[in-house]
This record gives sequence, C-alpha cells and structure tokens, in this order.
Amino acid sequence: MADRKYQRPDFEYLKTAKFRLFVGQKNNVNFVPEFYIDFMAKIKKIGVLTSGGDSPGMNAAIRGVTRTAIYNGLEVIGIRHGYQGMIDANFSPLYSHSVSDIIQRGGTILKTARCEEFRTPEGRQKAYNNLKEAQIDGVVVIGGDGSFTGARLFNEEFDIPFVGIPGTIDNDIYGTDYTIGYDTALNTVVEAIDKIRDTASAHNRMFFVEVMGAEAGFIALYSGIATGAEAIIIPELKGEERNLKAMIETGNSRKKSSNIIIVAEGDEGGGAFAIAEKLKDDFREYDIRVSVLGHLQRGGSPSAMDRVNASRLGHAAVEALIDDQKSVMVGISNGEITLVPFRKAVKLHKDVNHNLVDLAKILSV
Ligand code: F6P
Repeated sequence: MADRKYQRPDFEYLKTAKFRLFVGQKNNVNFVPEFYIDFMAKIKKIGVLTSGGDSPGMNAAIRGVTRTAIYNGLEVIGIRHGYQGMIDANFSPLYSHSVSDIIQRGGTILKTARCEEFRTPEGRQKAYNNLKEAQIDGVVVIGGDGSFTGARLFNEEFDIPFVGIPGTIDNDIYGTDYTIGYDTALNTVVEAIDKIRDTASAHNRMFFVEVMGAEAGFIALYSGIATGAEAIIIPELKGEERNLKAMIETGNSRKKSSNIIIVAEGDEGGGAFAIAEKLKDDFREYDIRVSVLGHLQRGGSPSAMDRVNASRLGHAAVEALIDDQKSVMVGISNGEITLVPFRKAVKLHKDVNHNLVDLAKILSV
C-alpha cells in the first residue's frame, strides 16, 4: 500500500464467526459485501481547498487528493478561494477528469486566499454549517502555517476532521523536511541569480538580491549555496550584516571582482534596499545594484520533485482522513510520510541547518 503509515481497521476480522453472516465467497476468495464496507466508512465525502500564498505543486496535490479519494470510493468537493469558499459555500464536485492535465501547472485551480473571516468564531461557525449542509465529512487543507492555525481552531470547535498538506514556497513548517513549491521556487531563484551573476561579473558589480521566504531563510540559504553567493543574510543569523565588510574584503584579497549578496526578505536588516543603503559607504569601490526577485518566485511549472512529493502528500492526506485522523498535517521526514499535529506544526519553529550556514561561509572565501 503506497505510503500507508497508519493501518486502517483490517476487514479480516469480519471473517470471524461473529461476522460470518456478512462474508461470502466469490471465485473461491472471501469477500466483504460492499454495502457493509459503506456502512462502516465514516468518511464518504471530502472537501479540498488551497489557502494562503499559492505554490507550484498545489495542483499536483489537489490531483493526488482527488484521485486517491475516488480510488477509495469517496466523493470529492472542491472548495474555491480557500476558507472564504467554505464560508460562502463555494463548492463544486471534483471528478477524476476535473484534475486531468493539471499536474504540470503552477498556481491552483481551486484559487486561494488569506481569509480574515475564518479567524473569527462566527466565520468558522458559518463554514461548519455549510460543510454540514453539503454533507462533507472531512477536509484536506493545502497551505502554510496560517492556514493550519485556522484548521486547528476549527478542529477544536467542531467535529469535521481537517488534515493539512504543507504548501508554501517558504519551507518554514515544523515537522516536515519539505513543503510543496519550495523546490520549484528554489530552482527559479537559482536560475535568476545565475543570470544576475553574468552581469555582476561582466561589470565588476556588487548585487544585493532579495529573495522571498517570509520570516525564514531557507530559500536564501539554499540558493546562496547553489549559486556560490559571496554572502547570505538570513533572519536565523543575527548581526550578519556587520560581518559583511570583512567577508567581502577577504574575497577581494583573493581577486574577486564581483559579489552576490543574497538577502532573505524577512531579515532584521529590512530588506536588500535598506541593507545596500547602509553598506554603500563601506563599498565605495563597487557599483552597487539591488534586485528584488519578487513574485516570479511563486509561479511556474512545478519541478519533478514537487510533483512527486505533492502526489505522495495528497494521497497520504486522504489515507489519514480514512484512518480517522484529525487536526494533523501530513509531512515528509527523511523520505517517509509522517503525521504531525497542527499544534506542533504551527507552534514550533523550524530552524535552518546551521551546518549548511557554515558550509556556505567556508565555500565562499
Ligand atoms: O508565503 C509565501 C510568500 O510568497 C512569502 O515568501 C512572502 O513573504 C509572501 O508570501 C508574499 O505574500 P503576497 O503574495 O501576499 O504579497
């Protein structure tokens, strides 16, 4: 069974004397009549939504959820525009063909939003009423920590289970090594910085390149290592700005004539423009440029890695709902599917690997 982490109740026990009534033989194979399996199943119809910032691979996850649900005999309802769609009952059924030809597409066919109303008890009550009315027994939420905070509150208040799939380019969710879209965004950033490097090198310039990542430095750190950046400034390392002058001077003494400094948008320094402004007097010999990569990091066709992981997580989320899980996120840790309570996923801080920080410094001398 692909990626099944938690065994659902084994129907073998139905073949015991107690349940012999329900067991028959078909071509010499014991079987459990379908009506009985239907009767046993708690989850018959699930909803799926995308919430927060879009990320490449969300469509692959929607496909994974939809096809796994259909495979298990469940109905699937697409909830449009994130939690807002739950509050407005913006529901439409998803069939196998509804998710054809989307695995390679960025964005999300279900649309997404950050919904203020779902933060209120009244908003969540409306959402619950609509889910009940539509007979939706469980919901898969594809999004980031803000989306899981809402899901967690909802599951404390109401009896419809929510299971989360980490979908954000920021890779900042505790309990999973990986979030959907991070790999694609990282590769997009690397491609962009390689191009900037050509110009930096041709003109002997110093570039401050600002990358996304919200409060986390994963995109900055990994893209910095992958592009051989001279320095990386991330929120996880305090006071790094102050070391910049020494780092660049060391490089200059080794005849470096151009510099790429990657700045994570969430850094305490206030972004690439602010840091460049503060440091320009220290680097008068350089022609300084600032490049903010912005939303081009969020779109585009998902990488193979994002498609495969999104498919695994989509499948695992439906399996978790069938297995009576609630208020948990499915993640990938050391290559294996894991279940992480929302409580932990939203509260605990996921740190960058500090060995990689050291590595980046060693390799940029
Ligand atoms: O969480 C994804 C992300 O792209 C962050 O990296 C960034 O800080 C934020 O969303 C930007 O949000 P918006 O698209 O609302 O400007």
